[in-house]
Amino acid sequence: MFAAKTIETTDKSAFYAELAEQLRGLLQGEPDAIANAANTAALIYTSLPDLNWAGFYFMRAQDELVLGPFQGKPACVRIAKGRGVCGAAAESRQTQRIADVHAFADHIACDAASRSELVVPLIKHGKVIGVLDLDAPITDRFDADDQRGLEEIAALYLAASEIG
Ligand code: SME
Repeated sequence: MFAAKTIETTDKSAFYAELAEQLRGLLQGEPDAIANAANTAALIYTSLPDLNWAGFYFMRAQDELVLGPFQGKPACVRIAKGRGVCGAAAESRQTQRIADVHAFADHIACDAASRSELVVPLIKHGKVIGVLDLDAPITDRFDADDQRGLEEIAALYLAASEIG
């Protein structure tokens, strides 16, 4: 059985290298996209400090993101492409790193506690198939190292999972 280990380092790149190693183990030999999203969200949420939400939205028909596996409080189910931080990531195909969600005019507040947000677009075979979304209850929670580390986590999820 897989048991997530507490990561003890304060060095961010070492932290993300270890997190990526744990995720590789967790996803190994499993192509199911929903099961892998559920375990990826759980690993992120239990390993990273200062998060209030971590999970997936998947692109469905009508250019709409629909809620997938996550950890945290119940969240908005449908987000139109282009709307909110998640929709902006899906439309622009760029990671959105928002230091203060209150300064992002189109932010969709699923949980009033959220202060900063990181959203990584999930792109497979040239198509945006969804986003990985992390919310934090403190402003400026995510720096460039977090962005790099979580883009790597998203890439591992995409490589392991049969989707798109
Ligand atoms: N805040 C997001 C919506 C999703 S929740 O944070 C889980 C947004 O603006 O797209």
